[in-house]
Amino acid sequence: MKKQKIVMCRPDYFGVNYEINPWMEGQIGRVNRDLARDQWNYLYKTLAQYVDIHCIPAQEDMPDLVFTANGGLSLGENMILSRFRLTERQAEESIFYDEFNKLHYQLSDFGRSLSFEGEGDALFQANERLLWAAYGVRSCLEVQLHIMKSWQIEVIPLRLIDPRFYHLDTCFAPLSAGEALYFPNAFDAFSLSEIEQRISPANRILVSEEDACQFACNLFNIKEHIFTNAMSPELIEKLNDRGYQIHICAVSEFMKAGGGVKCLTMKLEQQNIVAASPSA
Ligand code: ARG
Repeated sequence: MKKQKIVMCRPDYFGVNYEINPWMEGQIGRVNRDLARDQWNYLYKTLAQYVDIHCIPAQEDMPDLVFTANGGLSLGENMILSRFRLTERQAEESIFYDEFNKLHYQLSDFGRSLSFEGEGDALFQANERLLWAAYGVRSCLEVQLHIMKSWQIEVIPLRLIDPRFYHLDTCFAPLSAGEALYFPNAFDAFSLSEIEQRISPANRILVSEEDACQFACNLFNIKEHIFTNAMSPELIEKLNDRGYQIHICAVSEFMKAGGGVKCLTMKLEQQNIVAASPSA
């Protein structure tokens, strides 16, 4: 069967050079470059057994380019390019543009006035036509209406309220069999009720603050495989009982920049998304 394609970027110029999220505070210049390279290589090697990986070229002065999840969001041949909220990352936009253009995507973006940070803030629910999309920190709520209309997909807005969980993928992970793994305190009450309306109690996997803080939710999932930085034995057992196999890939150096396993990957295509019904 065809392998899932993803994008990664070697950490040749990775580091913490500025502070744009709470994890980066006090970490400027403190990344162990050799360890970061080893951790990234291990993640790459582990993922490569299950997916096809396309690497984009690392760029000097773009220390956060390794977090490819923030490059954009794809569906079919379409790709919505990110527009970063903060100037520190805006130079990355043209790199993602060039790469996705070379890969022949139909590209679109929201212009400079509306920020959208790609898969970091937008995740598809498996086997449905539903997109969970965060706002409140990095991405604007306004982009969601556009995504909904142009992709004919239901978009559920989720408001992030804890600065430590500033992107949706830091605190929420839809899984391949329909479950959602999430840290409830990262969301406001209305967003939690939206999740509860759409995910049955049996499919809700609530994560403790301790697991959330080790970026357990920042996972890459393909079929029954889950790749993540760390997870408590209790959470591993819960997921094992549901048939998931957990692959621990430590990415402590990347956490100094506020990113885990998911942030280091971006899906170039979505599998198991229900097609839009033909318009009337
Ligand atoms: N330092 C980066 C930032 O603050 C980390 C991005 C992590 N990416 C993610 N998808 N959560 O933008």
